[in-house]
Amino acid sequence: MSHPQQIIPHGHVLRYTLRERLVHWIAGVSYVYLLGTGLAFWSPWLFWLAAALGGAQVSRTLHSWAGLIFVGAVWYMYVMWAPQMKHTDDDRRWWKALKYYSTNQDEKMPPAGRYNAGQKFLFWGFFWCSLLLLLSGVFLWAPQYFAWHSLLAMRIAVLVHASAALFTIGLFMIHLYMGIFAERGAFGSVIRGDVSIAFAKRYHPTWYKEIVGESSSPRK
Ligand code: HEM
Repeated sequence: MSHPQQIIPHGHVLRYTLRERLVHWIAGVSYVYLLGTGLAFWSPWLFWLAAALGGAQVSRTLHSWAGLIFVGAVWYMYVMWAPQMKHTDDDRRWWKALKYYSTNQDEKMPPAGRYNAGQKFLFWGFFWCSLLLLLSGVFLWAPQYFAWHSLLAMRIAVLVHASAALFTIGLFMIHLYMGIFAERGAFGSVIRGDVSIAFAKRYHPTWYKEIVGESSSPRK
């Protein structure tokens, strides 16, 4: 099926609609705030971050609210993108060919759809970690509302919260590296919305064929 509305003049194609970009940046900005304040509470060495972000009390209060905004944005991403993030046979082949990806030999990679297998992994990693962060975070925020709260339950919640946060930090570092440095043109797509045809053909050839109507396969 062709998507002519995604083809825009001057050799570019639309990769992210305004709504997708807005949701992405609500997630991005709230995550960076959560990261700063969360690290400040985690280690005394990083407590200066809380001072820089408005003081200990403000940071503690806003951390919880920013958490709700972040989870809301991730949930909206799920609604927008989950059908396109399903694992396919091409994704299995993509993981097997990872060494070519990391050495920039894109021509040896199995063709990716709108998202490659690594991007799908990031998406699901953030999705599941957000659920864990939400459940443990709500409990730590107001334990008195949970009849079964105890010191042990608090310790488990802290462990779950910190582990899920650490996992997302790993994902986030890779995401920043890939989005800003490794794939030239990707950053512009979450700002302006478009990518060059060369970018689309190089990194997401199956998706490109779909939008120009060269393939009848469903959108991945
Ligand atoms: C704050 C700094 C961030 C930057 C600079 C950034 C950058 C980018 C870029 C450049 C893309 C487009 C990649 C492409 O289509 O080729 C993208 C997509 C995406 N971003 Fe972010 N992002 C940030 C934060 C986040 C956060 C916190 C999340 C967590 C929910 C997130 C989740 C995603 C997802 C799921 C996509 C689509 C799939 C993918 O490309 O991995 N981003 N981001």
